[in-house]
Amino acid sequence: MHEASYVAVFDPSNEDSWRTTLYTSAAALVQGEDDAIANCANLASLLFHSLPDVSWCGWYLLRDGGLVLGPFAGKPACTRIRLGRGVCGTSAFERRTILVDDVEAFDGHIACDASTRSEVVIPLMLEDRLLGVLDLDSPIPARFSPDDAAFLESVCRLVAASSRFE
Ligand code: SME
Repeated sequence: MHEASYVAVFDPSNEDSWRTTLYTSAAALVQGEDDAIANCANLASLLFHSLPDVSWCGWYLLRDGGLVLGPFAGKPACTRIRLGRGVCGTSAFERRTILVDDVEAFDGHIACDASTRSEVVIPLMLEDRLLGVLDLDSPIPARFSPDDAAFLESVCRLVAASSRFE
């Protein structure tokens, strides 16, 4: 399967989990700061430097009905993605997390970096309002698990709840 929907849930109260430690770091970074760019930038950097085998981690933010490149860590990337296009635009349009084990099998995948093999995109939502997406790429096939995706969804909820988006 190259794309999956799932119902895994991240439990931040499980103190044995490395994800709990990372979530605690993420929460500490946004604590006392409500600027969306500052918080997205710090969380992109935190995730990029904490998760192994991640070649790109960043945000595309909703601007004038499309996605525009936001804070990220990794190589330069495409700046604008239309809703419904690529993995990011599809995730935003359908407002659902998309796990792609093999990007070559995802029809319409936008290749910003030819070395990318797998990808996960999470919609950034505040209640029913779409704010953008969080995108992580890897050079390893099937790098991201449903548990990873559930964890990243919790990071998106954290940043949406703690930050002011326009
Ligand atoms: N691969 C994405 C484009 C963004 S880059 O991976 C940073 C897509 O298909 O939407």
